[in-house]
Amino acid sequence: MNKKVSGLAMATAVCMATLMSGCEAPSLDFLSSKKEQVSQPASTGDSSGTETPAEEPSTGHGQGSSAAHKPSMEETIQTVEGIPTVTNPEELYVIVNKQRALPSDYVPSDLTEPNVPFPFKDKVEKRLLREPAARALEALFAQAKQDGIELYAVSGYRSYKTQKSLYETYVRTQGEAHAAAFSAVPGKSEHQTGLAMDVSGLDQATRLEQTFADTPEGMWLAEKCAAFGFIIRYPKGKEDITGYAYEPWHLRYVGVETAEEIMSRGITLEEYFQESSSS
Ligand code: DAL
Ligand code: ZN
Repeated sequence: MNKKVSGLAMATAVCMATLMSGCEAPSLDFLSSKKEQVSQPASTGDSSGTETPAEEPSTGHGQGSSAAHKPSMEETIQTVEGIPTVTNPEELYVIVNKQRALPSDYVPSDLTEPNVPFPFKDKVEKRLLREPAARALEALFAQAKQDGIELYAVSGYRSYKTQKSLYETYVRTQGEAHAAAFSAVPGKSEHQTGLAMDVSGLDQATRLEQTFADTPEGMWLAEKCAAFGFIIRYPKGKEDITGYAYEPWHLRYVGVETAEEIMSRGITLEEYFQESSSS
């Protein structure tokens, strides 16, 4: 489980990376009312000095300050048509995993395109992130550039429909067990929250592969992401808790304070929320 491609030929690895990036994703047409947002330049860039980490969001998402309420896992789940479904899809505190689905029709209201490099030209939904995550990603990438690290945003937002198609393709080409370890069933992917982005370096051989962790880009990301509000969501050694294999490329935005705590303690989002949660 830990070495995803160790026994696979390069052609297979490339195929898998293509699969996981959600290349079949639909275009951005559904965001036509947000065109001005989609094309807007980075607001956090500062060509003259060191980038500062993204600020904590101040309102509306339950995480504006250290006094923000930290809900327990039990508080934020209800059964909808037999499926345990989260009640707080719009919050930065949302936890989506194999036990906790998003409403199938959930689409974040503030999707926008971060001004960062993508390894493809298509104007497709996987470019998108929710607003605070997009701004934080821009700051993270700007800092990387200053440090001589070249990062690419490979796959962000995925609709329920896109995840369904991706998962089904995965099962068909890689088998059930492999799909279960690396891909979420529709409705249970963090990518549908608009708070997750898969990141790579220039090297295609390590793109969406566990070997990314040992590259300069992967090491830089693991060290710096928390200062910009991101965590490595599926860490090595925590597969039993997260339900997924190690994904050193999958960033999840949670805000700086939470990210710093999770990454410095080497815990998962699940463990963070399982702990005492009174504010
Ligand atoms: N690869 C992650 C688990 C997803 O499909 O959401
Ligand atoms: Zn991912």
